[in-house]
Amino acid sequence: MMKSTVGACNTHNKSVRAWVDEMTTLCQPDKVFWCDGSEAEREAMTAEAVSKGILIKLNQQKLPGCYYHRSNPNDVARVEESTYICTLTQEEAGPTNNWSPPREMYQKLHGLCRGAMRGRTMYVVTYLMGPPGSSLAKVGIELTDSLYVVLSMRIMTRMGRAAYEHLGDSDDFNRGLHCMLDVHPARRYICHFPQDNAVISVGSNYGGNVLLGKKCLALRIGSYLGRKEGRMAEHMLILGVESPEGEKTYVAAAFPSACGKTNLAMLVPPAHFKGWKIWTLGDDIAWMKPGADGRLYAINPEAGYFGVVPGTNSKSNPNAVKTIVRDTIFTNVGLTPDLDVWWEGKDGEVPAECLDWKGNKWTPASEEAAAHPNSRFSAPMNNNPALAPEVNDATGVPISAIIFGARRATTMPLVYQTFNWIHGVYVGATMGSETTAAAAGTVGQIRRDPMAMLPFCGYNMGDYFRHWILIRRSLKNPPRIFHVNWFRKDASGNFFWPGFGENMRVLKWIVDRCRGRADAEETPLGWVPGARAFDLTGLEGFSLETLQKLQTIGTEEWRKEVLSQDELFLKLYSHLPKELIFQRELLVSRL
Ligand code: GTP
Ligand code: SPV
Ligand code: MN
Repeated sequence: MMKSTVGACNTHNKSVRAWVDEMTTLCQPDKVFWCDGSEAEREAMTAEAVSKGILIKLNQQKLPGCYYHRSNPNDVARVEESTYICTLTQEEAGPTNNWSPPREMYQKLHGLCRGAMRGRTMYVVTYLMGPPGSSLAKVGIELTDSLYVVLSMRIMTRMGRAAYEHLGDSDDFNRGLHCMLDVHPARRYICHFPQDNAVISVGSNYGGNVLLGKKCLALRIGSYLGRKEGRMAEHMLILGVESPEGEKTYVAAAFPSACGKTNLAMLVPPAHFKGWKIWTLGDDIAWMKPGADGRLYAINPEAGYFGVVPGTNSKSNPNAVKTIVRDTIFTNVGLTPDLDVWWEGKDGEVPAECLDWKGNKWTPASEEAAAHPNSRFSAPMNNNPALAPEVNDATGVPISAIIFGARRATTMPLVYQTFNWIHGVYVGATMGSETTAAAAGTVGQIRRDPMAMLPFCGYNMGDYFRHWILIRRSLKNPPRIFHVNWFRKDASGNFFWPGFGENMRVLKWIVDRCRGRADAEETPLGWVPGARAFDLTGLEGFSLETLQKLQTIGTEEWRKEVLSQDELFLKLYSHLPKELIFQRELLVSRL
């Protein structure tokens, strides 16, 4: 008989028990540990992780409560080619997802998981995505044999008691199973069964592949369920802009992975914007639904940030720097001899030597970076000095603007506003962006990444566009939709735009547009700020001419752009809403 360590939150919920029993029989762990999410439990598990070499305790004088983790070098990012949406038919998953018949995939994965936890502990991690009491919140249970996952889930979600209370006797929870196996790419599968609200992830121990509340439940399963339930699950940050008069405007923004969501969500306005403040609600995921008043309300389902480390410093993101000095797990950064962390673009002096993310000796003369480009921090949102108190509101916040953004060296202006909702949906649907280190594969190649959801949409992308169009019917007062690009480059390859805190200038124009108090000029793409409406005061070395260059709409570039957008539309053709084809025609004729 299995030995079962029963935590304080061990549940009497029959469906939970039955499923955990079933998975226990499958995986055959030596021990089942029901996590309660308490502080005492965290301490005990952390000590165990340190003793097993899973975590290294960092310098507690400098970084209280902080730990260091190295992942397997073959396992440092999401793997899109091993990620599957196993709907009943392939058509339901659509041409942008890998698909396998659910029965076949269950069979294959159960084969891999059979006996896979022998000699190990299975942790039962019950977690809540969203504020307690919110009608938008959802419960998931992740069964995992990774202590790193348990400790990360405790930071990233509301784990334990709050989740059990929200669940009660219901059987409405996401069933997530994670087996590390031998962390081999040949046995790595991240599989979603949307019709069963279930996820099985094997062969990885890295971030988005294994913290199942995040991309798997909150986005892939979340988007599938969202369509059925009249909600949206989006790869978006949520922030509040507070004016000197105390007026608050809420904005959501979808940028592809490693394209600036965390940075924008934590923005500190430059000195010129006296009295303005940005409040963070979320940095990666927004769950939204139309409210009774016809506005779109958003919650952040997460409770922590799993953020890109390299480039984080007190100039680019001062609030992140303050957030990650305690209670943080660092993954795949450099480790200094005094047990501090190091990464490219960190504040302070470059250490004379350290260990790199693989554990090899590193010096400033080394050719490779000390920190992996997709090295990450997991930090509790409560550490963020700019955390919006509304983050725990059950109803969420009303969104006034949605911003789509991409990483584009050419073609895309700094900012424009779309003419209306359907035009905005078209602009989101045709988004293109350069690939980044957040996913395994080539970096810097432009690909279509509709609404920043290409790797995260749990059903047919054409039907997802239609869902966006239909949501408009429930909105008396829809958010205005914008497009931004912080990454346009000049002829010598430097960014035109200083970005980071200076993005406040763009945000301010966006807020003023939503409030009906900023001018705009019409262009073929949409509305752009006129010279008078865009505040450049205090931005040294940046002229109106540079702004004009940033805003250039090149005819030849746009001809290529529209052709490249057509490729995605052709791929999705059988499910593509005709409204979007019509929008394409309108754009071509305006150009
Ligand atoms: P995920 O967590 O992968 O979904 O990414 P994210 O969208 O939250 O990206 P994040 O904010 O972590 O930014 C990733 C990279 O973009 C980092 O290397 C940043 O330094 C860079 N970045 C963010 N904002 C700006 C900006 O305004 N200008 C420039 N040039 N780079 C930026
Ligand atoms: C992303 O890749 O968009 C992330 C990091 O936010 S991960 O959680 O690993 O997917
Ligand atoms: Mn993300």
